[in-house]
Amino acid sequence: MKVLITQKLPFNVEEYLKDFELDYRKESTPIPYEELYERGKSAHGIISMLSDKIDKNLLENCPNLKVVANYAVGYNNIDVAFATQKGIVVCNTPDVLTETTAELAFALMISIARRIVEADNFTREGKFTGWSPELYLGTDLFKKTVGLYGFGRIGQAFARCCKGFEMDIIYHTRNRNLQAEILTGAKYVSFDELLEKSDFIVIIAPLNDESYHKFTINAFKKMKNSAYLINIGRGPIVKEDDLVTALKEGLIKGAGLDVYEFEPKIHPELFNLKNVILLPHIGSASVKTRAEMAKLCADSIISVLKFGKKPKNALN
Ligand code: DGY
Repeated sequence: MKVLITQKLPFNVEEYLKDFELDYRKESTPIPYEELYERGKSAHGIISMLSDKIDKNLLENCPNLKVVANYAVGYNNIDVAFATQKGIVVCNTPDVLTETTAELAFALMISIARRIVEADNFTREGKFTGWSPELYLGTDLFKKTVGLYGFGRIGQAFARCCKGFEMDIIYHTRNRNLQAEILTGAKYVSFDELLEKSDFIVIIAPLNDESYHKFTINAFKKMKNSAYLINIGRGPIVKEDDLVTALKEGLIKGAGLDVYEFEPKIHPELFNLKNVILLPHIGSASVKTRAEMAKLCADSIISVLKFGKKPKNALN
């Protein structure tokens, strides 16, 4: 049976999947759609990246396909409903990347608040001529209010990090999670309250019909002028044009972004703004986590293709 792997993985997947014929694209750039379409036609299993569009058109043309293991926790790149109709199992990589991704959100929050990147650039440019009382004054995190848009596994792990800074944690999601509230001390609020009360808003939500363009100019107008926006969820949750306006007009103070509305394209004006940190979608990028994600994808393939069993991390 043939397994297509669309990018090079930091894991010895060839040894691990030695019982299968591998169509291993050992490159570190996203596979073009046409190539994915062609190579997918004969595959029984695909290990896909979050940048691979696994849509109806593609799934219709993969007669042998039994399983898609997405190398990410988010799966908005896959038409799961159509895969379900076709009896194709879709898996993602939950749990193994939770703490790593929460850490990245925290790193972005503290870095934008304390102007770490700006200050590093200043030092590298040879501009540090001596200690000064007003040099790179930032914003404290301690005892501030952090608002989470999304409160799943990663959101809850992030909330645990915030507790160390004695932050007030509020959150908004579609469904309230009472057990997680007890464990983290987070308080459920309406979306408007989240916008109005938060000193930091952190988007840790999946992309779906509910979250798409949730943050537009109307939302930014309701935020404090002193607040920061962090997005490690999915780019299209934020209308990027409106974010640029909000940053330029001082509706909010800054933003830390790991994801973009038209990824990998980034709004050109964001590059000119000092009050923004721009990361290349590295939420889960630690050596250990990326290896565990690869192993989990490979295990999902084995489980379906070799043992005919749906793994625990199946989405359908
Ligand atoms: C995912 O896995 O969906 C995240 O975007 C990790 O960065």
